[in-house]
Amino acid sequence: MHMHTPTFHVRNLPIYGDTILSPMAAYSDVPFRAICRQFGAALHYTEFVPTEALLGDPNPLWRRLDVHPASEHPMVFQIFGNDAQQILYAAQRIEGWGADIIDINMGCSVPKVSEKGAGVGMMRQPKLVAETFRLLSTHLHVPVTGKLRLGWDEASENYLEIAKIMVDNGAALVALHGRFRSQKYRGQANWDAIAKLKQSVNVPVLGNGDVQTVADIDRLKAHTGCDGVMIGRAALGNPWLLARVDREQLTFGQITAVLRQHLHEAISYYGTQDGLQNINRHLKKYLSGLALKQFLRAFQAVETITEFEKLLGVMETAVPATIPIAELRKIPYFCTPVP
Ligand SMILES: Cc1cc2nc3c(=O)[nH]c(=O)nc-3n(C[C@H](O)[C@H](O)[C@H](O)COP(=O)(O)O)c2cc1C
Repeated sequence: MHMHTPTFHVRNLPIYGDTILSPMAAYSDVPFRAICRQFGAALHYTEFVPTEALLGDPNPLWRRLDVHPASEHPMVFQIFGNDAQQILYAAQRIEGWGADIIDINMGCSVPKVSEKGAGVGMMRQPKLVAETFRLLSTHLHVPVTGKLRLGWDEASENYLEIAKIMVDNGAALVALHGRFRSQKYRGQANWDAIAKLKQSVNVPVLGNGDVQTVADIDRLKAHTGCDGVMIGRAALGNPWLLARVDREQLTFGQITAVLRQHLHEAISYYGTQDGLQNINRHLKKYLSGLALKQFLRAFQAVETITEFEKLLGVMETAVPATIPIAELRKIPYFCTPVP
């Protein structure tokens, strides 16, 4: 679909479309993003990268900031740290690597990040937030954005205060995952909070948390007035959601066709060994809820692309391409012998 009118702007950068793939460490890499872009994801985030890893010599974490050679824009590079000066130096270093936007992660809840004052730990340090956004928006050429949670815990809900500080110091967009650090991924995301945020800032807002279906995308937008919907877990093995197609509407053949394409993206980016490991992580998601566990196990043992393709062929013979996923879900077990 070609859209002439931007859905919203991040500072001067036009964004076409309103479904956005969430940053997801170990998942939102170059191969998966290539697939999601094809399904119309309007904006892509990298996996988050620690600032310390960007300040020294080249190291494997730099690959997280690779951009697909077939041009992948607009592209958000997401970084995290706990020192404004260091965040600035890291951001200045990576700005020329293909970033259209630089995003500060203020949502990561894992203790080794948040307890060091980075990720959602930044939300407990309003001065650090102010300083970081002031420095970055003054010294970078690209827009600076941030992704928040509701706060550290229920006793310290402060997303509105932090978002105001961000925007007052130059942030061009705020993304909100409607949970506290203390919830991790438990409970229900609070969409009322996303609506309040949208009311309180004059920059675009991305709503995030628990979007699983096309109806959820529309409900979140209607409920909050947010500019874009950020989709994380539900897009894994299910990039169709970014194109507003529910998994239940697909046939098995559609899934294997995309899986094959994803395999080729993964192999061409990572090489055979790492590529197969990578695709197996996604394979679990593509086949999730389907009675194909014996295939999943067999795929884990595969060592070459030829073997992978062969096994895929066996699976495609066992399961008709035309069977709808909604039907396939009801079948408890496939008795196909797996080589
Ligand atoms: C495996 C995994 C990795 C994640 N990595 C990141 C990350 O690197 N940066 C980030 O801002 N959020 C990260 N998140 C959080 C998601 O971006 C998102 O905020 C969260 O999953 C809620 O959205 P959802 O309900 O659509 O999954 C991660 C989530 C998951 C499940």
